[in-house]
Amino acid sequence: MVQAITIILLAVAIAPGLAVGGSSVINATCAQLKPLWPYDYCVGVLSGDPAATAATDVRGVASAAVNITTTKAVSTLRLSTCREYYGNMLQSLADVRVDLDAGRFSDASFEISANASARPMDCDIYLFEGNAHKDPIQQENTENSILAGLASDILRLLES
Ligand SMILES: *[C@@H]1O[C@H](CO)[C@@H](O)[C@H](O)[C@H]1NC(C)=O
Ligand SMILES: *[C@@H]1O[C@H](CO)[C@@H](O)[C@H](O)[C@H]1NC(C)=O
Ligand SMILES: *[C@@H]1O[C@H](CO)[C@@H](O)[C@H](O)[C@H]1NC(C)=O
Repeated sequence: MVQAITIILLAVAIAPGLAVGGSSVINATCAQLKPLWPYDYCVGVLSGDPAATAATDVRGVASAAVNITTTKAVSTLRLSTCREYYGNMLQSLADVRVDLDAGRFSDASFEISANASARPMDCDIYLFEGNAHKDPIQQENTENSILAGLASDILRLLES
């Protein structure tokens, strides 16, 4: 698991076209998350998204991070594996969006870390425990869970 996360972090960090330009708000946000999240990974993910790059404050970055997570979950749902778990994840992310828009940042952060980020892991367990004992979308699941975790921690910055 730890190894899988490391591989994905590396893959994302060296993906071409990311982190070009970036923004000072993204950089400041990622600097605040530093011991928790590798700075280059954080900047790379957010700088690849036009809405995050255009954000003028941490709230805008958080909003973009929730959308990045949602977009990724939608694309995984289209793979039609674990449709139910990903359907639940998207419902949970819709709740997160409502909390965020209402300024309930700690509710939003908790919802995404306790609920949305757990659904991809449920999918992993379900597939590994199934007859095939293998999970063709393990990387997708890990990435979805990591993105949800990052979004949750950005939301947490807004609590204070
Ligand atoms: C943000 O940080 C990245 C990499 O750490 C750097 O390349 C970029 O110039 C910085 N952008 C701004 C606007 O500070
Ligand atoms: C995120 O998605 C919502 C709902 O689709 C949209 O209203 C909002 O503008 C988006 N925000 C960012 C920062 O992308
Ligand atoms: C997770 O969110 C979904 C969608 O809103 C909800 O139906 C479910 O009850 C939540 N689960 C937990 C454990 O909070």
